[in-house]
Amino acid sequence: MTLVIWAGGCLRDESEPVIGATDHGLMVGDGVFETCEVTGGRAFALTRHLQRLEANARALGLAPVPTDEVRSAVAAVLDAGGAALGRLRITVTAGPGPMGSGRGDSAPTLVVVAGPGRAAATARVVRVPWARNERSAIVGLKTTSYAENVVALARAVAAGADEALFANTRDELCEGTGSNVFVELDGELLTPSLESGCLAGISRALLLEWAAQDGLPVREVDPAHLPYRILDDISAGRGALALTSSTRHVAPVVSLDGVELAVGAVSRAARELFRERAALDVDP
Ligand SMILES: Cc1ncc(COP(=O)(O)O)c(C=O)c1O
Repeated sequence: MTLVIWAGGCLRDESEPVIGATDHGLMVGDGVFETCEVTGGRAFALTRHLQRLEANARALGLAPVPTDEVRSAVAAVLDAGGAALGRLRITVTAGPGPMGSGRGDSAPTLVVVAGPGRAAATARVVRVPWARNERSAIVGLKTTSYAENVVALARAVAAGADEALFANTRDELCEGTGSNVFVELDGELLTPSLESGCLAGISRALLLEWAAQDGLPVREVDPAHLPYRILDDISAGRGALALTSSTRHVAPVVSLDGVELAVGAVSRAARELFRERAALDVDP
């Protein structure tokens, strides 16, 4: 299937150019984005994604795009793509601007793209030598400045994996290039709190909420409780790992740095719980 594209106020053909040469998103990665899963022609957790998009745009200092405008662009794309769609991306940039980091005063650019795509049910991860900066000016924001993730994911793919795990500058476990990380230890599934510098993932939040309601032992911990070296224990068989993201939902990790890992019982239950709850409500 081809991509469905909305830009500049209407649906566009894939071959049409839609971004100006000086768009600040293109120039310096001055933008924010969201990726949603699409099931049965509907975007999962769209309201949460739109809220995060708005909050991230504000935090980056971008002029706001009215949520109604984004919603109608998303609706146009979903209508045009139908049931074959698997994922949808919403991008908002600062719009045309100067060639350097200084920002112009243009109206923001909004682009919505959807296409096929489903992630695997399990994940294979590697460690990478680079750190997330929990003191970064854009910490926790889903900006289009993703080159760091591109490089780390390429390293993972070259090693036969599909995700890379970052430490932060304090050598605490942080997150993946496009996922949050959970560590299964002694019958509990633990994820570093947002102080680690990780993105406030929507799937992470949903899993924490649903697990709390269901009595499944899943919780946030102080990042100091999950040093990056805990991954040595995991590869030695003393624990398990799982990832969450909009396209993966909950994906148990089956390989770490090429060492096969057993799927943890809580990770498996978390995946099942997420599947059940997501099927009940497309916009939780
Ligand atoms: C860096 C990063 N962390 C975590 C996530 C997971 O977030 P969500 O569950 O909202 O998709 C993503 C999603 O792409 C991400 O890019």
